[in-house]
Amino acid sequence: MAKKDGIWITGASSGIGKAIALEFAKIGCNVFVSARRAQELERLKDEAGKPGDNIYTFPCNVASSTNVDQTFKKINNDFEVHCLINSAGITSFKHAADNSANEINDIINTNLLGAIYSTKTVLPTFIKNESGTIFNILSVVVNKTFTRSSVYAASKMGLLGYSNSLREEVRKHNIRVINIIPGATETSMWAQEIRKEKGERMMNPESLARIIVSAYLQKDNLVTEEIVLRPVTGDLD
Ligand SMILES: NC(=O)c1ccc[n+]([C@@H]2O[C@H](COP(=O)([O-])OP(=O)(O)OC[C@H]3O[C@@H](n4cnc5c(N)ncnc54)[C@H](OP(=O)(O)O)[C@@H]3O)[C@@H](O)[C@H]2O)c1
Repeated sequence: MAKKDGIWITGASSGIGKAIALEFAKIGCNVFVSARRAQELERLKDEAGKPGDNIYTFPCNVASSTNVDQTFKKINNDFEVHCLINSAGITSFKHAADNSANEINDIINTNLLGAIYSTKTVLPTFIKNESGTIFNILSVVVNKTFTRSSVYAASKMGLLGYSNSLREEVRKHNIRVINIIPGATETSMWAQEIRKEKGERMMNPESLARIIVSAYLQKDNLVTEEIVLRPVTGDLD
């Protein structure tokens, strides 16, 4: 019997990744959700109600290539991944001089290497199937310069370079590589006091999720390769 296929989302225990998981589950897709906090993934499944039947939890720390490989193998035992969404991400909002070596490693390992490790695991299947979709959740820091974001910008610009180069390699295999470039979005990435003060001006993760699902559902031989999403009223200052 053919394996059920579905969408693997990293960073799905909160914020944008969680909203994307719920949106895909609602339209009947199987969703494989990963993040470090297993209990939050279970909560997501419960919160989803009936569509939660389409959600399968696979806890994973994307900063560890070993853990990513093991997680992909576990998913692949029972299912086939046909779409990967790299949403796991962290930042520190500190000046460059104030970041500890550990913080720098964590941001680069999660945002840049984590997405690269996850992508590498799915590529052989996508190439064999001559089909697949990879979404990389980047950030407006790739288009605009902000302070207190130096390491975060380095991680996202690194991922932008990887994503663009990968796209040229794999387009001959009918693999779609889509860059999502969001501005401020109201999630736990922002401190509570900033969300209180500026939350009204931020986008909500559910709106982003709907755009991502619609890009995924695009048919024919076209692909929207890059989507920039910013609050109508502009970036936060
Ligand atoms: N919010 C914004 O304004 C904004 C704007 C542009 C881009 N983005 C990007 O959007 C993505 C999602 O962020 P968010 O705003 O939704 O923030 P969030 O609510 O804090 O979500 C971050 C997610 O990443 C997961 N994560 C962190 N480190 C991980 C690791 N080592 N391994 C696996 N999962 C890990 C977290 O789960 P665990 O803690 O359970 O591991 C959580 O599910 C990030 O890539 C971020 O850079 C956000």
